Amino acid sequence: MARIKVPTIETERLVLRGWKRKDAAALYAYAKNPNVGPHAGWKPHADVAESRGIITQLFQRNTTWAITLKGDDTPIGSIGFEADAYRPGINSREMGYSLSEDYWGQGIMTEAARRLLKYGFEELSLQSVMIRTGEANLRSQSVIRKCGFHYEGTLRQCYRMYNGEIRDSRVYSMLREEYEELRGALQENLPLNR
Ligand SMILES: CC(C)(COP(=O)(O)OP(=O)(O)OC[C@H]1O[C@@H](n2cnc3c(N)ncnc32)[C@H](O)[C@@H]1OP(=O)(O)O)[C@@H](O)C(=O)NCCC(=O)NCCS
Repeated sequence: MARIKVPTIETERLVLRGWKRKDAAALYAYAKNPNVGPHAGWKPHADVAESRGIITQLFQRNTTWAITLKGDDTPIGSIGFEADAYRPGINSREMGYSLSEDYWGQGIMTEAARRLLKYGFEELSLQSVMIRTGEANLRSQSVIRKCGFHYEGTLRQCYRMYNGEIRDSRVYSMLREEYEELRGALQENLPLNR
């Protein structure tokens, strides 16, 4: 698969930019934390070489951005789109993200995810965006709610973790017409009252 170049995008506090090979140490610094990866379904990284492999084999081959704070180019998280496995033949993507634990609870992922919804619907002309998370991942469920996604249902025992554990997935989506309705509030970072 060819390398995908993503544009640099700014939000109020963040710069979202493409991942570079030399970001491996910064990725490893947060991806080795057992509180981060397992919530998103992946194993904590074992060493910097593994993080480098994820950057070159996964992040640079998907529509994935490094999350940095304005004024500091060090990645503190990742966000991006992959194929929506539930909607073959539809221009739909699944959103995924993770953030260094040092930065949780400051609204950073909500800010990044809202901006990527704009990119997805307006630049990639998506028909819908899907996102899924585990029952226990209340933080991610908050981000999803604050972005305005609709809960579709829970797929029971649909997901096998890297350690063999089988989990349920809560599945959410946003359709293009729903995005159009929320667009102003999402862009101005207003609460959605839902
Ligand atoms: C999920 C994750 C990306 C959230 O990022 P974040 O920048 O901290 O998110 P935000 O600050 O925008 O929102 C966090 C929400 O969780 C809430 N929260 C914080 N601690 C919580 C707790 N112990 N239980 C429940 N909710 C909690 C916050 O109050 C906030 O919601 P609110 O604004 O409605 O109050 C981050 O925690 C993470 O990377 N987790 C590990 C990887 C992961 O889970 N990825 C997603 C897989 S689907």
